[in-house]
Amino acid sequence: MSTVEAPTKKRAQISAKTLRTDNWRSYPIFIVVVFTAWVGYATFRAMMGDHYWVDEYHYLTPFYSPCVSTECVEGSAHFGTFLPELPFFIPLAAVSLPFLLLFRLTCYYYRKAYYRGYWASPSACAVREPHRKYTGERRFPLVGQNLHRYFWAAAFLISLINTYDAILAFHGETGGFGMGLGSLILLANVILLWGYTLSCHSCRHIVGGRLKNFSKHPVRYWAWGVVSKLNERHGQFALITLGSLVVADLYVWLVAADVISDLRFID
Ligand code: FES
Repeated sequence: MSTVEAPTKKRAQISAKTLRTDNWRSYPIFIVVVFTAWVGYATFRAMMGDHYWVDEYHYLTPFYSPCVSTECVEGSAHFGTFLPELPFFIPLAAVSLPFLLLFRLTCYYYRKAYYRGYWASPSACAVREPHRKYTGERRFPLVGQNLHRYFWAAAFLISLINTYDAILAFHGETGGFGMGLGSLILLANVILLWGYTLSCHSCRHIVGGRLKNFSKHPVRYWAWGVVSKLNERHGQFALITLGSLVVADLYVWLVAADVISDLRFID
């Protein structure tokens, strides 16, 4: 007759860092490389203070939107210039960039990514982390991650502003309607930004949360279904929009600096 040992409450003592044999390091390394490069580029561009507006075609890079300082070049301030001249270390889009930064910083997907990439907390599932203690997100400063829903509201407003900018970018050189490659790039970027903003976990809760009975709220139920579908791809939107923001900004920069000419389809 065989005997079965009673389960013990002790955790298994495994000296190896992990028993995983797959290439689990590739994701955190990828994240560190991509995020570091992106933050470097975005900081450089936000501080550059130049080549952000193409007056002929009304292209405004998203990194400077909305431009609200009296320093903004003529035509680029779509919502007025209610901030005075700013010191060199404050970007011209000073009212939007902090919220966008905090929106991404507190995003559930980005949290996973940078906790893994920069803090090894943990680097991957089933990989032992170097930290002795785990206090979760209940203490300062990580308790601030709970403000994500409020940053979402700010990002929603900024997405509306970016949409307005993208519509204005369909502008002909002599006035009226026009379309160039820049118009399409700015439009594609804003569509992807909406994909990211609307697929947010907080958005899903705002749209369909706190309901006891979906059948009594058919519109919210429908919207919750749409957001839930988008939500499955939230991580992809998070990464793709990093790329689309750089492409949109770089294109406007190069056209504004006369390095390249805009490819025009309708003038
Ligand atoms: Fe990623 Fe809200 S969870 S933007």
